Amino acid sequence: MMPESPIQPLEPIQKVPRHIAIVMDGNGRWAASRGLPRLAGHRAGTENLRRVIRACVEFNVKVLTIYAFSTENWGRPSDEVEGLMMILEDVIDRELDELHAEGVRLRHIGRLDRLNPRLREKVLNAVELTKNNDQLVLCIAWNYGGRDEIICAIQNLIADGIKPEQISEELVSNYMFTVGIPDPDLIIRTSGEMRISNFLIWQSAYSEWYITPTLWPDFNREELYKALQAYSQRDRRFGKLTNGCEKD
Ligand code: FPP
Repeated sequence: MMPESPIQPLEPIQKVPRHIAIVMDGNGRWAASRGLPRLAGHRAGTENLRRVIRACVEFNVKVLTIYAFSTENWGRPSDEVEGLMMILEDVIDRELDELHAEGVRLRHIGRLDRLNPRLREKVLNAVELTKNNDQLVLCIAWNYGGRDEIICAIQNLIADGIKPEQISEELVSNYMFTVGIPDPDLIIRTSGEMRISNFLIWQSAYSEWYITPTLWPDFNREELYKALQAYSQRDRRFGKLTNGCEKD
């Protein structure tokens, strides 16, 4: 691995989003442009994640949600699916202690039932171990789909006997996988694609989007800083004429 260059101080950011969500796109193209297999791109993307987590802590972002494996990704070739599962397991095995020591709280959104039992246990243990940490919530979307999340919420609302007149936005939010997590202020998508791809479709109603052509493995601290500066310039009005809130 290349030695990391010394961290240069950056001008403070005026308005820091509390919650950033990222569609980490472009690993495959990053690998292809180097004549490498797709999994090498995912591994490079995983290394980059470490850097971005650190940068989020540095910039005082409180929640980082990453789209790491979608409900649709099961349709990829089996060696890629298995490779991604191994990467997740490896990250938990190798990085959990350090993340825990740095005060990172892990959350999982999506369904765990299709994962192999060993990996499922590791995810649950990581969530349990880190549940009292408060530096950064790292929310991993794994086997996650926005439509699947809404179906799951409807099933649970019905199972709990909720009456039609009791349904409110707040109640529905509390039935989402993201319960307790504020909606994302900023969603970043790397590699220039302009699609939602079934990501946080309920929660992103008023999120700001930032699309960059940079491929995910190259999306470094400076790129994150640029995204945060762009967010700082946005005028969030939530459908009104003024934002009604000094901070947003
Ligand atoms: C999209 O790029 C990326 C993915 C589907 C996987 C992202 C997963 C990781 C970075 C693994 C690390 C995550 C954790 C939590 C350990 P793509 O493959 O669709 O890229 P392409 O559009 O260039 O082909």
